[in-house]
Amino acid sequence: MNHRRLKTALKDLPMGGLRYLKRVGSTNDAALAWAAAGAADFSLVVSDEQTAGRGRGGRRWYTPAGAALAFSLILRPRPGEQEKAALFSALGALAVAVALEGYSLSPQIKWPNDVLLGGRKVCGVLTETVWLGEQIDSLVIGVGVNVAAASVPPADLLNFPAACLETELGRPVERVSLLREILSALLEWRPRLGTQAFLDAWEARLAFRGETVEVWAEGQPARRGWLVGLDSDGGLRLRLPGGEHLTLPFGEVHLRPGM
Ligand code: BTN
Repeated sequence: MNHRRLKTALKDLPMGGLRYLKRVGSTNDAALAWAAAGAADFSLVVSDEQTAGRGRGGRRWYTPAGAALAFSLILRPRPGEQEKAALFSALGALAVAVALEGYSLSPQIKWPNDVLLGGRKVCGVLTETVWLGEQIDSLVIGVGVNVAAASVPPADLLNFPAACLETELGRPVERVSLLREILSALLEWRPRLGTQAFLDAWEARLAFRGETVEVWAEGQPARRGWLVGLDSDGGLRLRLPGGEHLTLPFGEVHLRPGM
């Protein structure tokens, strides 16, 4: 991966800007700094290696050199997107899932926005928002995909079983082409953010649907229920053991298959 190859591969996409960093702490941090300095909508930061990659809930994200796809996309939400901005993380996960289907894989989305292959995590999304008063000034969608076997984190960093693309496919994967496919899917779905078609596409790929799951917010006890699907805001609908329904708003909630 290098700047020239990225530029060539992405030349037909409406990029606001492109920065390639051979090594960086976190592409999200680099993108947030660039956004603060005025980066245009759809500007992209890509790196071959992250030394301080960040995951959800303050966890580390493992990105050794040459093995993973790690990028952060800067968006400037348009007027109609402002009130649906919470769904941009799901847009990132949906775009990755759609791109992986192009490799004849059958990815699933573990609510809210992890991408799984064969029930194991292959991609995580960390979206960070910069507010300007009541309005969102910019938003950074950070995406990490495990591509080669070396990108699968060591066991002590894992909080969910992990997979990688090349092992699933049994062949090498060109990271720049994968990036192009993900960005194309994101461009295709962005205009439909929050629409019924968007929710249907997300729900159709939802992992553990019709199965028992456990959900919990950080520091809270876990609740167990049967995963029904999504509500109209992208919240998760569960049927509890007593038969009553519970909807969890989209956010910092963890989910795992129930025992
Ligand atoms: C998760 O915890 O599942 C989210 C992981 C997000 C990782 C990506 S890699 C590119 C971007 N830069 C970061 O520091 N994090 C995100």
